[in-house]
Amino acid sequence: MSDINPFNLGNAPSDEGFCNRKKELKKLLTHARNGANAILFSARRRGETFLVKRVMDEVSREGYLATYVDFLSVISEKDVTEKSFNTVVRGVRENITDRSFMNKVKKLFTWIYLSIDIGPEGVSISAKYDRSETFGHLVDDISLGLDKCPKNNKRRCLVVFDEFQEITSPPENKRVEGVLREHIQNQANASFFFVGSRPPRPRSMFTDSKRALYRLGFIYEMGNIPKDEFAPYVVERFKKTGKECLLEIA
Ligand SMILES: Nc1ncnc2c1ncn2[C@@H]1O[C@H](COP(=O)(O)OP(=O)(O)OP(=O)(O)O)[C@@H](O)[C@H]1O
Ligand SMILES: [Mg+2]
Repeated sequence: MSDINPFNLGNAPSDEGFCNRKKELKKLLTHARNGANAILFSARRRGETFLVKRVMDEVSREGYLATYVDFLSVISEKDVTEKSFNTVVRGVRENITDRSFMNKVKKLFTWIYLSIDIGPEGVSISAKYDRSETFGHLVDDISLGLDKCPKNNKRRCLVVFDEFQEITSPPENKRVEGVLREHIQNQANASFFFVGSRPPRPRSMFTDSKRALYRLGFIYEMGNIPKDEFAPYVVERFKKTGKECLLEIA
């Protein structure tokens, strides 16, 4: 039986449902493997998120700890901390048992603790942190945890910040940028990708010498997938699902 939709509209790109972007993929993979930072921006809906998720998949298979933070709609420093914490803890949790996860979190973090709830659906573990702590201390904790994590596992990390332009929304944004810069610069085992497509585009955050994140990584602007590569992909996807789409139409 054929699929109804020939295209992958979800947010987990597979080898098959992914068109081109070979050059971009190669460059980003090189940066991730070298522990370098990259800034990727484009107009809306050009496939940035899809691309970085593809990179995350690839490096995860190589044993990296790959974490993805979506900063869309952060309005305070606390939101930034919370989103960062949640994704790092989720990354640490992947593929390990509850018991080793608990031991690992104890070893990695100071301000994060795990709370165990027993409910009608069984036992659930959730990560909590001390909310009275300052933003600086909490980011310190995430950063040191990330640093210890690869040493324990002989792994490296890739941290993706999607919709990074939103970091300018919290009233304390200057401090947020400053704290992030300090930690990102001191991270030897991790590579950071900053991705953004909504206005204000994040480019100036990295090119304005007065800003904290000035020249923190390689900057790329992503365009459309060229027509002569996208059209055959469309034809092929239709074919795979038992339908026909002529090249001219595609
Ligand atoms: N390289 C690709 N091959 C095939 N389909 C793609 C590719 N890139 C993107 N798409 C399709 O386009 C959709 C939107 O992509 P994606 O969410 O990555 O865009 P975006 O640039 O991050 O958008 P936004 O500006 O809303 O953040 C994906 O769900 C997928 O269906
Ligand atoms: Mg996106």
